[in-house]
Amino acid sequence: MTAPLVIAVDGPAASGKGTVATGLATLYGLPYLDSGLLYRAVGVLAERGSGAVTEASAEAAARGLDPKVLDDPALRTRAAGELASQAAVFPSVRAALLIFQRDFAAQGSGAVIDGRDIGTVIAPAARAKLFVTASPEVRAERRWKQLKGQGESVELADILTDIRLRDERDSGRAAAPLLMADDAVLLDTSNLSIEQAADAARRIVETARAL
Ligand code: DC
Repeated sequence: MTAPLVIAVDGPAASGKGTVATGLATLYGLPYLDSGLLYRAVGVLAERGSGAVTEASAEAAARGLDPKVLDDPALRTRAAGELASQAAVFPSVRAALLIFQRDFAAQGSGAVIDGRDIGTVIAPAARAKLFVTASPEVRAERRWKQLKGQGESVELADILTDIRLRDERDSGRAAAPLLMADDAVLLDTSNLSIEQAADAARRIVETARAL
């Protein structure tokens, strides 16, 4: 019997990893987890609860997290992304969210998970690992369009600054930093349409499955 298909999709903010991951989940009929939403929920709840994202408030939010809150559109705002990145630096927060993500990866059906440390920490044995990236300018423009589409009033230059700061924090932290796994395949979506990125992702997964 072949092992269930687990696909890890990592990459920086607004790289297109969510689009690639949802496309793969639909294509292969697999459950999908956007792990960034877990950190967003923790950041938002920690701030709501204590007025700031501290290690204690974020750890308490992570331990008590109810996955039902992940559907809340408030988690998709610019502010939630910033709070998420602050909460994500704490090892105790990452540890509290680990089991949920590992269980999601281990369900018998297989799974697609996107995030920063899926191929390195959460599902190191995933059959296919993609590292999706794009230039900071392209990512900023995508995120800006997305936020404007959600009704947020934001400046492109501010979003580019956010993206650069977030890259620094996500890559520079000691606990499970954003890192391409040795056995991941790089997919640069800077010059690709959504269809081209989806097609390239499918080919990467098919190659990994054939190994
Ligand atoms: O993918 P996103 O923009 O929704 O992620 C929000 C933040 O959460 C990101 O800046 C870092 C953190 N994160 C993480 O540390 N590990 C993950 N697996 C997913 C997200």
